[in-house]
Amino acid sequence: MSSVQLSNLHKTYPNGHHAVKGIDLSIRDGEFLVLVGPSGCGKSTVLRMIAGLEDISSGQIAIDGRVVNDLSPSDRDIAMVFQSYALYPHMTVRDNMAMALRLRGLPREDVDRRVLDAAKMLAIDSMLDRKPGQLSGGQRQRVAVGRAIVREPKVALFDEPLSNLDAKLRVATRGELKQLHTRLRTTSVYVTHDQEEAMTLGDRIVVMHDGVIQQCDTPMNVYQRPANRFVAAFIGMPPMNFFDGVLEARSEGLGFAFGDGLRLPVHASHVGSLQPHVGKAVTLGLRPQAFALATGQPSVQVTAVMTEPLGDLMDMTCQLGPMRVIARLPWATPPTPGSPCSLSVRTSEAHWFEAGSTGSRLA
Ligand SMILES: Nc1ncnc2c1ncn2[C@@H]1O[C@H](COP(=O)(O)OP(=O)(O)OP(=O)(O)O)[C@@H](O)[C@H]1O
Ligand SMILES: [Mg+2]
Repeated sequence: MSSVQLSNLHKTYPNGHHAVKGIDLSIRDGEFLVLVGPSGCGKSTVLRMIAGLEDISSGQIAIDGRVVNDLSPSDRDIAMVFQSYALYPHMTVRDNMAMALRLRGLPREDVDRRVLDAAKMLAIDSMLDRKPGQLSGGQRQRVAVGRAIVREPKVALFDEPLSNLDAKLRVATRGELKQLHTRLRTTSVYVTHDQEEAMTLGDRIVVMHDGVIQQCDTPMNVYQRPANRFVAAFIGMPPMNFFDGVLEARSEGLGFAFGDGLRLPVHASHVGSLQPHVGKAVTLGLRPQAFALATGQPSVQVTAVMTEPLGDLMDMTCQLGPMRVIARLPWATPPTPGSPCSLSVRTSEAHWFEAGSTGSRLA
């Protein structure tokens, strides 16, 4: 097990594209760290630089305090699992898993034992004599994970390993990976663009955008206190609703004026930190879960547009003045499209940001 330190890491590709722009990150010994962000934000590039598969343009990567910038991939003691599995099709599962150990010159009995232990852990021990072509996608992915863990690497890297699996298998395999990590505690860096995977797997998650880290924290801290509007929009399902408006002083506390003459009171717990922004444009963020189909106070009058049932819950899209809003509500007979209804708002759950599409958190 090992720690990994990234210092002011940059990557500019030969075509001039600046894909990674000064990443600083300390990955702790035994930690499961998830890099998450939209397509093209530089996740795989960071991972490939850690693995040694991609040159570093500037900055430093250290494993256990030793700078590895100039070490070849094979000298870094890192295992990588790819989305494509990258198994050798002409070799059996056993040979795929054993190859790296044999190349290292480990005695045959040790190789056999480690392969069998890993195969049992991953429930593929009955398939050791099959070839990858005779396995399902989920089983192939487990072989790829098995091949990585038999090596007992210092660091395990995963690049979207579950994205070729169907939704149900993805959730099941995700759970297995999490349990496996609880047992092995291998320092792991896991790349995904799926925020649910990031939330459920990561000890900490790193949200990236355009080659820059936006926030690095525990999943719940990122969810409850997103550092800026980008993170707020990226983490959470359905995505957060945003409203641009102005803060106003009132006789009792603060108010938020937005849309065409709409107003909401600012929750008492946010007044202190928002006071310096009175009279200024700010953005209010409300998760779909902060609404309720009720006449409680405060509330907003909306027009129902569409309802999507989810079983015990439903997502209701509605029109609030000129704005579209999504509310996630307990299941109830939905309002007829086009009919007016009242949504109460839990303003204690409001998120406040500087105005603009990338505004920082205020409260
Ligand atoms: N060899 C290359 N030459 C030039 N640009 C590249 C090269 N590889 C990647 N890029 C660009 O660098 C940026 C980051 O790519 P990267 O593969 O790291 O993104 P990603 O976050 O892993 O995205 P995805 O979720 O789609 O896999 C992208 O804009 C991509 O087009
Ligand atoms: Mg990628």
